[in-house]
Amino acid sequence: MNIIKVNDTQMGGKEAFKIVKADMENGIKVLGLATGSSPITLYKEMTNSDLDFSNMTSVNLDEYVGLKPDNEQSYHYFMKEHLFSKKPFKNSYVPDGSNPDAEAATKAYDKIIEENPIDLQILGIGRNGHIGFNEPGSPLDGTTRKVSLTESTIEANTRFFEDEKDVPRFAYSMGIGSIMKAKKIILLAYGEAKADAIAATVNGPVTTDCPASALQNHPDVTLIVDDAAASKL
Ligand code: GLP
Repeated sequence: MNIIKVNDTQMGGKEAFKIVKADMENGIKVLGLATGSSPITLYKEMTNSDLDFSNMTSVNLDEYVGLKPDNEQSYHYFMKEHLFSKKPFKNSYVPDGSNPDAEAATKAYDKIIEENPIDLQILGIGRNGHIGFNEPGSPLDGTTRKVSLTESTIEANTRFFEDEKDVPRFAYSMGIGSIMKAKKIILLAYGEAKADAIAATVNGPVTTDCPASALQNHPDVTLIVDDAAASKL
């Protein structure tokens, strides 16, 4: 894994943006996108740039089950707010959390991923090493699934909701197998709360206990981390 150490999230966004820009100049067509606080500075760089995304496709990692796209806590809404309203893409896909039929929703999303092979995937990481919403124990070769969120993830996400009981307990998430098919991956991690997860991702065994450790088997991964996130490497 290629590791870039940065001073803060601003610099992390700039480093990630350099890769996105260079890859777009080289003709990539499909960006895999993530939600959470970690990619926000990258999305700022993208929206402030003169790059044109109107010929690009985006495919997001995950969505909460039970939230409609216009729900302010949904990942559809997050993406619109932080990126798509300012920089529209030709096509932007996010799993349909409002579809209660998990089988249909996840199959439809796998078809989208198959038809739009991801050139560059942006990832954050959960405190427990989850990527997308692939919590510990998720199959390392999985495709899109309905997943139960762990207590630690629900607790971490409570800050975005008025009440803990409003935090959805399930999500549709791209699987680790699908993430691994992306040609290139950038993982962004900032802050001390991510230090254990980053250490397990880079130096631990490849194990379902730390879903991000699967990235050790990917040929082109760049980790962008601040000192705190890198403190246990
Ligand atoms: C959520 C998302 C992940 C994200 C993680 C970390 O669980 N599903 O894709 O990586 O949060 O979020 P943050 O970047 O806010 O720490």
